[in-house]
Amino acid sequence: MIPNSYIIHTFGCQMNKHDSEHIAGVLEDSGYSRAPTDEEAEIIIMNTCSVRKSAEDKVWGRLSCFAGGVPPPKIVAVGGCMAQLLGESIIDRSPGVRLVFGIGSMDRLPGLIEKSRENPVCDLGDINKAFVDCLPYIPESPVSAWVPVNHGCDNSCSYCIVPAARGNARSRDLDDILREVEKAAGSGRIEVILLGQNVNAYGKDLFPRVRFSQLLDAVSGVQGIQRIKFETSHPADMDESIIEVMAGRANLCEYLHLPAQSGSNRVLKAMNRGYTREDYLEEVRFSRKIIPEISLSTDIIVGFPGETDQDFRDTFTLLEEVRFSNAFIFKYSRRDGTAAAAMRNEVPTRVVSNRFMLLSELQDKITSEALRELEGKTVEVLVGGSAKRGGFRKGRARGNQVVLLSSAQELVEGTLVMARVTGTGKHTARGEVVETITKA
Ligand code: 5AD
Ligand code: SF4
Repeated sequence: MIPNSYIIHTFGCQMNKHDSEHIAGVLEDSGYSRAPTDEEAEIIIMNTCSVRKSAEDKVWGRLSCFAGGVPPPKIVAVGGCMAQLLGESIIDRSPGVRLVFGIGSMDRLPGLIEKSRENPVCDLGDINKAFVDCLPYIPESPVSAWVPVNHGCDNSCSYCIVPAARGNARSRDLDDILREVEKAAGSGRIEVILLGQNVNAYGKDLFPRVRFSQLLDAVSGVQGIQRIKFETSHPADMDESIIEVMAGRANLCEYLHLPAQSGSNRVLKAMNRGYTREDYLEEVRFSRKIIPEISLSTDIIVGFPGETDQDFRDTFTLLEEVRFSNAFIFKYSRRDGTAAAAMRNEVPTRVVSNRFMLLSELQDKITSEALRELEGKTVEVLVGGSAKRGGFRKGRARGNQVVLLSSAQELVEGTLVMARVTGTGKHTARGEVVETITKA
């Protein structure tokens, strides 16, 4: 075991991954260093996700490895959304855990670790007063920076546990965001991914009000940033100015992740989503009118309580109509404390599985057809960090498509290239580099 070392296991979304960068920053500021394995680490941290039961089960599975006890000075700590929601009960269920910390107590993590050496500790702090963005952080990527624009969420989608875990919507000051983006650019990052549980709600809570499109406009003006993406958008808070700004700025990628969740108005109402199928389709139509090449992706939940065959067909036809370049399809997962958890009319597991399969098959077909449309075209690709696979280097096009690159020259992570798409598979395209735009 390496004294004063840590390892972080991160579950869930990009916001959680970014929080882990802060956890690393706080610990390294206090003299800790990163360990390569659990065996070698003194502090093992699980930064957890609660969005679905399956996400929690993964964490419980990992924690069961420590059920036999963890000899000091080793410490197992649990943070993130599960910690936020379940608190002390994590220690009761998993006695190997010494420390449960919250997003609101991340700043005090080194002190909490010391305290937990004596007795198990649960200290969540106050989620609504969390100042995560001021904390130091160790970026994961030399090319791309995650920058939160707002935290928490004021919507109350009936299936969703996130507002309970992450608190009320709190927007960051526009100048703070810009300063962070400038800093990222200054340290060589060329891509920025703006994060929020609902980025379109950015600025609703600021006085004077700032619109998300104004923020996008300001961020796009930062020197050196060649690509900007953002997630997650909410159809009820989308406005046309967002698409208009995207169309007018070269560094705003033609990519929009817009979770529809369902294509049935009845289900959308029960989910409390605040828009109809028709509203959603109108947003899609408008986006494509202004940015014809825009790549759209979505999230869908199948088997929401009370979902009938007809409701499911409405979702099926929504996917057929929109033809998303990608859709993340989830089986409904009952989350205690949400409004939907009290709904009695659950869909039988067998029916949910069947619907999930039908929708996944449909979307796989659409995804590969959408990719095939890229064949023969020349697209801009940002070379990623992962190792070469079978002679190919992985990168992402502006529409977020994965492109496996072949090149006569060695490609360095962070290089922007133009690549001709020579073939496509189920989920990826293959491309030949025809020109290097910028070198890393
Ligand atoms: N069950 C299944 N999927 C869910 N999501 C959120 N809550 C649930 C739940 N209770 C999905 C939504 C969301 C994505 C991040 O996770 O589709 O957009
Ligand atoms: Fe998971 Fe949602 Fe928490 Fe992200 S915000 S870690 S997706 S529960």
